[in-house]
Amino acid sequence: MPDICIRPVQLSDRDHLLRMRVALWPKASAEELGRELTLILEGKAPVTLPHIILVAETGNRSVAGFLEVDLRSHADGCNPSRPVGYIEGWYIAEDHRHRGIGRKLVAAAEDWARSQGCVEIASDTWVDNEVSQRVHEALGYEVVDRCVHFRKTL
Ligand SMILES: CC(C)(COP(=O)(O)OP(=O)(O)OC[C@H]1O[C@@H](n2cnc3c(N)ncnc32)[C@H](O)[C@@H]1OP(=O)(O)O)[C@@H](O)C(=O)NCCC(=O)NCCS
Repeated sequence: MPDICIRPVQLSDRDHLLRMRVALWPKASAEELGRELTLILEGKAPVTLPHIILVAETGNRSVAGFLEVDLRSHADGCNPSRPVGYIEGWYIAEDHRHRGIGRKLVAAAEDWARSQGCVEIASDTWVDNEVSQRVHEALGYEVVDRCVHFRKTL
């Protein structure tokens, strides 16, 4: 296990973090992801429930990965009577994978959700992201639902 520090994101992480957000969400525009990130880092994101971005910093002070977690008023399969922690984004740079860094970030996200009073945390992934599904299960997450989304032009 390399020397890894999990900490809240700082303004100086912006460029590095943006590259990883673009890699995680390739269908979103880099400009939009950048605008959203700037608002989050400046504390001006238009959100009402608490949220945090955690980063994994290596011994040589580079950022190996990140996890964005927030509270949602409800999530599939969870008790609807109270807010739950929700993993919104989770990414480890390819050359840092399989070293337990993703697990450390999730443990920190779970601690954060507990500190917000949550007794459950939820997450999602694409149906074709089999690695993510296996990793979630390795970390104790159970599948509660599988969805098919539809659209129609009107
Ligand atoms: C998913 C991801 C964040 C995992 O990060 P990671 O640092 O490689 O994960 P870890 O090394 O902490 O592994 C955690 C557990 O998952 C298992 N695991 C990791 N990679 C795996 C793989 N490719 N296949 C099966 N299991 C795997 C590990 O064995 C480990 O379990 P163990 O501790 O019981 O052995 C990383 O693969 C990634 O960034 N993927 C691309 C982006 C993505 O899909 N994000 C999730 C979208 S929700």
